[in-house]
Amino acid sequence: MAGKYKIPRGTYDILPSESYKRQYLEQTFRAVAENFGYREIVTPIFEQSALFERSVGDSSDIVQKEMYKFTDRKGREFALRPEGTAAVVRSFVENNLANQENGNRLYYLGPMFRYDRPQKGRHRQFYQYGIENFDSDHPYIDAEVIALGYTFLQKLGLQNFILEINSIGSRNCAADFDQALIDFFDPHKDLLCSDCQHRLEKNPKRVLDCKVPSCQEIAADAPSMLNYLDKECSDHFQAVQEYLNLMDIPFTVNPRIVRGLDYYSKTAFEFLNNNLGAQNALCGGGRYDYLVEEIGGKPTTGIGFAGGFERLQLSLEAENACTGTKSAPAIFFVTMGDRAEKTVISILQKLRLAGISAGFDIDKKSLKAQMKAADKSNAQYSVVLGDDEMATGTATLRNMKSGEQQQTTLAELVTLCKNLL
Ligand code: HAM
Repeated sequence: MAGKYKIPRGTYDILPSESYKRQYLEQTFRAVAENFGYREIVTPIFEQSALFERSVGDSSDIVQKEMYKFTDRKGREFALRPEGTAAVVRSFVENNLANQENGNRLYYLGPMFRYDRPQKGRHRQFYQYGIENFDSDHPYIDAEVIALGYTFLQKLGLQNFILEINSIGSRNCAADFDQALIDFFDPHKDLLCSDCQHRLEKNPKRVLDCKVPSCQEIAADAPSMLNYLDKECSDHFQAVQEYLNLMDIPFTVNPRIVRGLDYYSKTAFEFLNNNLGAQNALCGGGRYDYLVEEIGGKPTTGIGFAGGFERLQLSLEAENACTGTKSAPAIFFVTMGDRAEKTVISILQKLRLAGISAGFDIDKKSLKAQMKAADKSNAQYSVVLGDDEMATGTATLRNMKSGEQQQTTLAELVTLCKNLL
């Protein structure tokens, strides 16, 4: 029976039968990030709206139409975070993390919120994994950040993904490119969608990213940023590619990658799974060498990426790749009679204190129903305790898979379990 209330559109519940999958992805990401020397940072899910407006940028779709904004009881403007970078940079500056242990290598996991039309792989509340690196602007760091994303996808056993990289230049050369784009698009302005007409004024690069077919057609002959990079950016981009080659990480250069957020400079990249349909970006990121300064910190370079768990899980499931394993009790108890039940209640607590997961169904009275519950639980072992076992002080541990049995005394049951499990 459906209840009175419905989940908000574009959100979903992670149900207990599936939550192990998300846990597996999170654990794998944590392990990879920690291996690369990153430590977790947790920031609030809402921040001052102005933080995102300033950093993600006025011309981005996120700020233009996707933010969940609200005013609190004192009239302050907040927004549910649409992404993690701005919040991490805010914390980096506010807590002076540059001078703290592990302050330069940060990873995060958590929900993000964007008001967009929901579709496969696109939600209004989605969950990102991401990293931000404030170590240096050395091109090795760019390659290493990309390598972390690559290692994560490899560790999960994902087969179908590609890496595309680009450089979108620095303050010194991006303006020339923007002008070249304005000159190129201006004669076709009336044929561009209304968003792109606006983009052309605010951030011409974003026209290259438009998904509207007529805009894509016009953009097909647009100039390439790679022809506008100055020597510093071009050398940097070359070096990133050399480091990726040294790491045996396959990639293609795609001069069309501009990314949908305004804070990027130099390296931009995306891991894509083209089997996913329209929402094919598994994760994306890039360098943002001016962002820390723009939100009031000391000039500090940065680079990072983030990806959505939903698309990752869809990709893994489509390939029948491992998405973790459901946990099950190590041992399940079946009892007959009051005395046995009381004994089990005491044993259960001892086992659980010892970190052994143990199950028991007190509401099922018949042996058959309890055996069924033991089977359903997928426990490794079952133990049946009845009047006989109580009288002799013994117990039989049965391996649920092999059927093998092991005798022990009730007094030694907990120790035996500790040794076995
Ligand atoms: P983004 O490209 O906006 O970048 O998002 C990163 C990833 O989050 C996407 O590639 C996609 O996997 C996932 N994602 C985005 N929107 C949705 C959605 N509505 N539903 C499901 N998944 C979604 C950023 O957020 C930057 N902060 C990345 C970054 C970190 N750049 C530097 N550091």
